Amino acid sequence: MLANSLLKIENLTKVYEVGLFRKKYITAVDKVSFNVSRGEIISLVGESGSGKTTVAKIILRLLPPTSGKVFYKGEDIWEKKDIDKLKEYWREVHAVFQDPFASFNPVYKIDRVLEQAFNLMDTPVDENAIREALKEVALLPDEVLGKYPHELSGGQRQRLMIARCFLLKPKLILADEPVSMVDASTRASIVNLFLRLRDEYKTSIIFITHDLGLAYFVSDRILIMYKGRIVEEGSPDELISSPKDAYTKNLLESVPLLYGKWKGF
Ligand SMILES: Nc1ncnc2c1ncn2[C@@H]1O[C@H](COP(=O)(O)OP(=O)(O)OP(=O)(O)O)[C@@H](O)[C@H]1O
Ligand SMILES: [Mg+2]
Repeated sequence: MLANSLLKIENLTKVYEVGLFRKKYITAVDKVSFNVSRGEIISLVGESGSGKTTVAKIILRLLPPTSGKVFYKGEDIWEKKDIDKLKEYWREVHAVFQDPFASFNPVYKIDRVLEQAFNLMDTPVDENAIREALKEVALLPDEVLGKYPHELSGGQRQRLMIARCFLLKPKLILADEPVSMVDASTRASIVNLFLRLRDEYKTSIIFITHDLGLAYFVSDRILIMYKGRIVEEGSPDELISSPKDAYTKNLLESVPLLYGKWKGF
């Protein structure tokens, strides 16, 4: 294993079984392999239903694969069975989801989302650290603490999820459409928070999106997913200047700015 490698995914396959009587099988992820190095930002880009979230759930150990392996720091994550090892894994590998509303329990104040981070770290809740983390993501502690999830805007909820990353300082963040629910200027500032986490703490990030333009600006490497497979992989510039796969070309045509770059004007 390369010294710098953090996550290694080998031949990951997930077949969902649907239907009670007439069973149907959906191959959501099909022999996917890739590596993530320390401090690297990769993007998984693909249309709806291409298997991106399924890959993320398997990496988070929330969903078992049908076959294939996920190695974190050289260890098979499905070998981690005792609760201490799992807590350590979930402290180091952390998710920021597409719809943060679904990640919050509506009956609890949002303070709890941040307090849970201390639970994972096995340390007492530190109010000061919470306030500092909120300031890192440009939220005013006195304005948000004590509120319920529905009392915050979509952008504020998304920032709150990232505040949790500033508390936990995970080694790897799985960001599944983390900026899908916010306007363009909020999007830019949230993307900058991810870049800061990488620059300040060498956090690796798997950025999941269907927006190739966004992937181009944030990633060190882009993987294009189509129907459960990785059809192409490369640095943003490589991919844009000489796309090989027909699906990648198709995606590029839907991003006018990049398409211009690709066409050389
Ligand atoms: N729990 C499940 N049971 C059965 N099929 C599922 C389940 N979850 C996802 N699928 C199917 O697996 C495929 C991949 O879904 P997945 O959610 O991974 O796609 P995605 O790339 O994240 O899409 P999106 O961009 O819309 O979020 C789809 O065909 C989906 O319908
Ligand atoms: Mg998804």
